[in-house]
Amino acid sequence: MIKICFVCLGNICRSPMAMFMMQEKLRKLNLEKDFFITSRATSYEEQGNDMHEGAKKVLQENNIPFTKHTASKVQSIDYDDYDYFIGMDEYNVKIMKYLFHNDPKEKVSLLLDRNIEDPWYTGDFEKAYNDIEIGIDNLLNKLEKKKIFQKER
Ligand code: 4NP
Repeated sequence: MIKICFVCLGNICRSPMAMFMMQEKLRKLNLEKDFFITSRATSYEEQGNDMHEGAKKVLQENNIPFTKHTASKVQSIDYDDYDYFIGMDEYNVKIMKYLFHNDPKEKVSLLLDRNIEDPWYTGDFEKAYNDIEIGIDNLLNKLEKKKIFQKER
């Protein structure tokens, strides 16, 4: 099983969106049993809170199912539990590398080759959705190329 943890600052906007979008993508590919997908924050700002209403709205508009979410901060002891920790921006990556003692197993990466702007500040949940979608497609292609899994043709 491939275990992926998406990470952002508050764990109420970008990383839970990525989590629910990835879960839906994997369901459509019939691969959900091969993956465990979750999400975390780098801060305690929103600890225990549900996903932001703007994130719920954009997921609904795009027919992405979601369940009640509880924001939770990533901890250094989580390092061994996941294969990939995927940050939404450079700051998330920086915090994780510090938390994970410089990431010796190179599990930490950015979802896109640029920052996914924080809709908590910009208010633009649609842009975040579109960027996350590109990032997830890139991630799946990368995992398939590394023969981590095989898409059914
Ligand atoms: P997120 O957005 O990192 O995409 O979940 C944020 C949500 C809350 C805060 C910052 C970013 N906050 O500082 O409370």
